[in-house]
Amino acid sequence: MLVDRYPHQQLPTVNEQRDKMIKACIFDLDGVIVDTAHYHFVAWQRLARELGITFTEKENERLKGVSRMRSLEIILEIGGIELSEEEKEKLALRKNGWFVEYINAIKPEEVFSGVPELLQSIRSKGIKVGLASSSKNADTVLRLLGIGNMFDAIVDGTMIVNTKPNPEIFLLAARKLGVVPSDCVVFEDAEAGVEAAIAAGMKCVGVGLPGQLSTANEVIRNTADFQLADLEKF
Ligand code: BG6
Ligand code: MG
Repeated sequence: MLVDRYPHQQLPTVNEQRDKMIKACIFDLDGVIVDTAHYHFVAWQRLARELGITFTEKENERLKGVSRMRSLEIILEIGGIELSEEEKEKLALRKNGWFVEYINAIKPEEVFSGVPELLQSIRSKGIKVGLASSSKNADTVLRLLGIGNMFDAIVDGTMIVNTKPNPEIFLLAARKLGVVPSDCVVFEDAEAGVEAAIAAGMKCVGVGLPGQLSTANEVIRNTADFQLADLEKF
């Protein structure tokens, strides 16, 4: 007699197996889709220089993903400078003016090579694609790159109260995409972003150099290096 070693009730049904699959990929913008992270750094460094503060690329890692005001506060902390809220507002505006000036020259070809194709192939598998950027300039960047229609949902810095490392932005993106957090993978180049994704209960692919972003589930050098087959690992 044939012995059923794997009784049906112990085997996952097709639906249960599907439930284990990743249903959405959520991308950060600056440094993941396009090199605007560099423009943020150049603008902050220009401001720091005016304030007589030495601000290095290494210190800039702390600014990635966090809000404009928090970024300014980190620079002021580095320089040991204390300012009133009003003065800080003025400086943050000044930096943003330079940043907007830099990004206004962005051309569609500046999107990281291979990224539009990656977004398309994710979507062609029936997996949703979202964007979650702390930036209040995300709309402008997406318009200049002409890639806004490649996302099923977009959340930016104008729609949230708490920026990364708080998980709010990713939880809102998941809600807009109609998926639960545990079915999402986040692509992030910022330590604060990786922390936010993990706090949201999501998986995270870090985009950075080996040795960086060590709490991410996987680290790749460039966003387009991501292999779709890896989604099954998560
Ligand atoms: C994030 C960047 O995407 O947006 C941060 O990584 C930046 O460096 C933050 O500070 C806020 O951007 P913005 O454009 O609103 O000043
Ligand atoms: Mg980023």
